[in-house]
Amino acid sequence: MNVAVIGTGYVGLVTGSCFAEFGINVTCVDKDEDKIKRLNEGEIPIYEPGLEEVVRRNRNAGRLHFTTDVRSAVQSSLVIFIAVPTPPQPDGSTDLSYVDQVAKTIGEHLNGYKVVVTKSTVPVKTTHRVKRIIDEAIAASGRERFRCSVASNPEFLREGSAVEDFMRPDRVVVGAEDPEAIAILRDLYKPLNLIEVPLIITSIPTAELIKYASNAFLATKISFINEIANLSEEVGADVHQVAKAMGLDGRIGRKFLHAGPGYGGSCFPKDTLSLVQFSREFGVEQRIVSAVVAVNEDQRNRMVLKIERLVGELEGKQIGVLGLSYKPNTDDVRDSPAIDIVQKLQDRGAKIKCFDPEAMDNAKRLLKDVQFCENAYDVAEGSDGLVLATEWNEFRKLDLDRVRELLAEPVIVDLRNVYEPAEMERQGFRYTGVGR
Ligand code: UGA
Repeated sequence: MNVAVIGTGYVGLVTGSCFAEFGINVTCVDKDEDKIKRLNEGEIPIYEPGLEEVVRRNRNAGRLHFTTDVRSAVQSSLVIFIAVPTPPQPDGSTDLSYVDQVAKTIGEHLNGYKVVVTKSTVPVKTTHRVKRIIDEAIAASGRERFRCSVASNPEFLREGSAVEDFMRPDRVVVGAEDPEAIAILRDLYKPLNLIEVPLIITSIPTAELIKYASNAFLATKISFINEIANLSEEVGADVHQVAKAMGLDGRIGRKFLHAGPGYGGSCFPKDTLSLVQFSREFGVEQRIVSAVVAVNEDQRNRMVLKIERLVGELEGKQIGVLGLSYKPNTDDVRDSPAIDIVQKLQDRGAKIKCFDPEAMDNAKRLLKDVQFCENAYDVAEGSDGLVLATEWNEFRKLDLDRVRELLAEPVIVDLRNVYEPAEMERQGFRYTGVGR
């Protein structure tokens, strides 16, 4: 079976490479010539553990191709995945212009039966819109003898462990209504039968909604525990223990109950806003998710106040920040709480030194007047306080004696609850975590 993946962003690249790893012949398409050139030279544009190896192995085996030629990719493939960006618009709704354009192009080049699958996260009903656009393009280019089916196949890939998530998913969701398309997509995911991955076949709107409901629910857990953390601080409770005990209840579960500066990245912020927005268009308010979004925004301000409380007046102070990506194991800084907090500290007159193991190049495009350092110890040197903003492994076991000697003031604000409060105080730090 030949598969085309249109869009070589994070989702498209992981999806295409991992299908090739299953032994399928995959063509990844992008209109960005420079990106395709670099991919053909073996260069991976994002930091994603394990991805480079999968790309190399499958390119060498002749199963994975990169091209700007969308026409030949469409014409030579039975299944076409749309994995182009769906950026948020200023009002929180989703910009579908890239999806629409790809749908039109597919219709214009159709040369036989195809299954067109939306992989990008798109508002409910978008896959049907894709079908309409393809059909219009088919009619406009006189190709009525050809036919296509559409399907929705949302991704559940976490940045930083996307390859593993693709190869060993909790479930695969396929929204399709045409028996032929269902059979083809079942066959495509057959390699996962061996490890008994549940394949959930649903209607198209159901599959589209599963994606939003899943991300919004995870975001809800995070905002929920962050509000409990804020309360814990006032009543002298430890949110870490609250979350642990809650999580032992199998109905609640342990995961996504880590208090911190709130969620970031290219998915949760965008998808929660989009769900609120498109639900409204269907006349239904998502009151819980709206509150989740508001709590998340507020949490970042709270983190700045927390820092100020420990450091004192921020004007003229030097603050060291460890971690800039929105979470560890990625170089992605999109909607990163760390970046936001740096900017808010600067607004209050603080001077910033910072370091991130992978995200410095991306952060340099967003941050001005910041001193980028070589490592955590350079950041600590002469700083009036050290903020642990992203829990990269290398920040989990810092040489604390050295950090204390380098800091101008022995202040650590641990936004990820990596360290134990009592132990930090014993070591002579003025320390605070989140909700402890
Ligand atoms: C998320 C979902 O986990 C994936 O299933 C989904 O496919 C993806 O979005 C997407 O829609 O493409 P991702 O954004 O890569 O994946 O990252 P997560 O590991 O889910 O973390 C998201 C944010 O929540 C991070 O800022 C993280 O620090 C924060 N978080 C996570 C917490 O603050 N507390 C937690 O307990 C867990």
